[in-house]
Amino acid sequence: MKILTVVGARPQFIKVSPVSRALKSAGHNEILLHTGQHYDHSMSQVFFDELEIQAPESNLEIGSGSHGEMTAGMLIGIERAIILHEPDWVLIYGDTNSTLAGALAAVKLHVPVAHVEAGLRSFNRQMPEEINRIVADSVSDMLFAPTTEAMTNLWHENIPAERVHMVGDVMYDAALIHGEKAEKESKILDILGLKTDGFVLSTVHRAENTDDLGRIRAIIEGLKLVAEEIPVVLPLHPRTHGALERSGLLESARESLKLIEPVGYLDMVKLEKNAALIATDSGGVQKEAFFQKVPCVTLRDETEWVELVNMGWNRLCPPTSAEAIAKEVRSMIGVVGRDENPYGAGDASEKIARVLSSNLT
Ligand code: UD1
Ligand code: UDP
Repeated sequence: MKILTVVGARPQFIKVSPVSRALKSAGHNEILLHTGQHYDHSMSQVFFDELEIQAPESNLEIGSGSHGEMTAGMLIGIERAIILHEPDWVLIYGDTNSTLAGALAAVKLHVPVAHVEAGLRSFNRQMPEEINRIVADSVSDMLFAPTTEAMTNLWHENIPAERVHMVGDVMYDAALIHGEKAEKESKILDILGLKTDGFVLSTVHRAENTDDLGRIRAIIEGLKLVAEEIPVVLPLHPRTHGALERSGLLESARESLKLIEPVGYLDMVKLEKNAALIATDSGGVQKEAFFQKVPCVTLRDETEWVELVNMGWNRLCPPTSAEAIAKEVRSMIGVVGRDENPYGAGDASEKIARVLSSNLT
């Protein structure tokens, strides 16, 4: 079967890595289309190299812009690619603008769409990701849900049950496949002079945090309070780098925190595994904290991964006050949640390949 996979942003490269392997093993012909939404070496190429992902057949080089500009440019390019390749399926991942454009381009050309990581909801329509997910799920012919919570969300939206498959989380597959390599090959702890359990790892990039001066200031000031007691490492997403520069917070952040460039996946896993705590607004990083059995503080008002909070591994901390963030981080260090795994058995990718094989069009 011919599958056109649309990716464009960092978490999608990580999700695609185990699924592409499984599709290849199952004998599918996969064509990878990169929208170019993320383009810095540290946001894109590093993952293709480290995770041995096949080179994209083409890159639309959309780059950055407003939501309308990016999505419109992607739509034109993806539509052309679908007409050229005539795939049996278009495969999309997660909730970015690349996901939305892939879904819309395919459904308008009557090509079936399969959505990996379907059914996630924050119930906050101010988030661009929430709109992208709702649209993608509603037009998808096949929905691969990672959790029972996601299944329930789709059921509430009356998505026909026969379209939905509970497969587990492909990010868990990725963590299992690449974990050993990260352990062996990453030298990041030595490079940064860090010790196991001797630092807090943080990532921040959500628009609701970076584009709100009060929230980004509370996060930086909160992390600075934490850094008075334990080093804080912050690999800086380019959006956040820009926001800190514009708000004049960059230099003071640099004085107290270990600000570094975005790291590759192997270094990131090594950092996650050895951190005393992770403070993040990332969806993927919240789960990876759990995969490594590291407690997490989520710097948001809500999370799509509610099971992490229910199991006690994650606590929500809306980033409105520096003191509240520092207090939550201090109180979560050392916390151990319930010993359960809601993300499957590490075989989500194989299940996806199998379901696609049994749905020949
Ligand atoms: C996007 C996704 C978000 C996802 C995140 C993963 C949307 C609406 N958002 O957010 O869901 O969690 O990716 O990281 O699709 N930039 C660079 N170099 C790059 C990429 C971005 O400098 O390689 C800068 C640009 O200034 C750009 C800004 O980052 O304007 C934001 O990039 P964009 O892709 O629009 O959104 P993200 O915040 O990365
Ligand atoms: N990640 C990485 N390097 C970094 C920060 C994150 O490799 O410097 C990885 C992280 O391990 C996870 C994914 O990027 O697999 C999460 O992506 P991101 O936080 O950008 O987006 P989200 O998951 O919130 O959509």
